[in-house]
Amino acid sequence: MKTDVVIVGAGPAGLMLGHLLHRAGISVVILENKSADYVLSRIRAGVLEKVTIDLLDELDLGARMHKEGLAHKGFFLADGDRLIHIDLQALTGHAVMVYGQTEVTRDLMDAAASRGLEVIYEVENVALHDIESDAPHVTFRKDGADHRLDARFIAGCDGFHGPSRQAIPDSAGKAYEKIYPFGWLGILADVPPCADELIYATHDRGFALASMRSMTRSRYYVQVDLSERLEDWPDERIWDELRLRLGPEASERMTTGPSIEKSIAPLRSFVFEPMRHGNLFLAGDAAHIVPPTGAKGLNLASSDVAYLSRALIRFFKDGRRDGIDTYSQTALARVWKSERFSWSLTMLMHRFPEGGDFGRRMQIAELEYIAGSTAARTVIAENYVGLPL
Ligand code: APR
Ligand code: PHB
Repeated sequence: MKTDVVIVGAGPAGLMLGHLLHRAGISVVILENKSADYVLSRIRAGVLEKVTIDLLDELDLGARMHKEGLAHKGFFLADGDRLIHIDLQALTGHAVMVYGQTEVTRDLMDAAASRGLEVIYEVENVALHDIESDAPHVTFRKDGADHRLDARFIAGCDGFHGPSRQAIPDSAGKAYEKIYPFGWLGILADVPPCADELIYATHDRGFALASMRSMTRSRYYVQVDLSERLEDWPDERIWDELRLRLGPEASERMTTGPSIEKSIAPLRSFVFEPMRHGNLFLAGDAAHIVPPTGAKGLNLASSDVAYLSRALIRFFKDGRRDGIDTYSQTALARVWKSERFSWSLTMLMHRFPEGGDFGRRMQIAELEYIAGSTAARTVIAENYVGLPL
């Protein structure tokens, strides 16, 4: 089989890239090792920046997002009794959209079937070959038979654990990583949110986040030690901890109920440079990971895909190489700024016992400054809504 671009991975990055290239008349095959249901079963963050909203609109796939999504013009930072409002709309002129990544993926999947975008699910043994040549190819196994896909380019959209980044020789790239000494315990429940906007709370007991999927489905997180086990956190213990950390106002309004999903996830910051090797391009989690504090994961995948799709379309339509030759540096410029924001908000809002009392007082002093400074709140707001492409 032969195609212009093989995309490895049918998560948000792979599907968005596939749609953008397919719509431009570029032949694409997307290879995914899980089933469509499995991909949809993943619970992920749910805050869309303008770049993601615009991409879905550009693909005429934004109707359900605009209908069912919640436009949020601000969010809160909480410390103890104090709530600091970050007025995104007033400070930047932009809002964000609360709409689950699962729903974004579902919209992209449904359209792939109706628009003839080829996605092959449940493939095995995906391997990349000759990525430094102008005729790379991918081999994989499907329904007990081995297959080969020849292409002009390969797009690695296969997430942090996929084979694409691994196909780049160690000597050709560099990884930058920070592992945080805690995880997020997340709970999903069909209860109304405790506030109209998201609340990121810092507390002596640890960080907490009050988020939502709709006005009837809430998503909450508490910072936990990496040694914590899910079985030691019955729902009641989570609700009690959330009440303590989110402060009296949120606690007063909190509706509790049985969890429909519960999980503990570690936090890391990670960037692999460069995001291109030969005719393999990396996009999304395959190239970078952010702690979820800044809600940047999906939105960075979107900006990578916006840059990469334009570069590949320029190559195939105009024979120009400038886009593909500058893709890595262009994408990384935005990646590093989002990594910085996600890291800084994580460092501000979480408990670091090793930082001691002085470290805690630095966090409290910074929040005090943010509460009193429009400039400080503007810095947070413009990073949260997303820097321009
Ligand atoms: N072969 C084929 N597909 C693979 C392989 C493989 N060997 N390994 C991984 N994949 C698939 C995964 O099953 C997944 O569906 O690649 C896809 C990668 O999708 P994501 O991990 O969702 O990454 P991405 O599309 O970059 O989206 C980034 O997803 O993980 C969240 O927080 C992250 O919100 C961010 C978003
Ligand atoms: C979520 O709703 O899952 C969510 C929202 C904002 C974040 C992280 C997760 O920063």
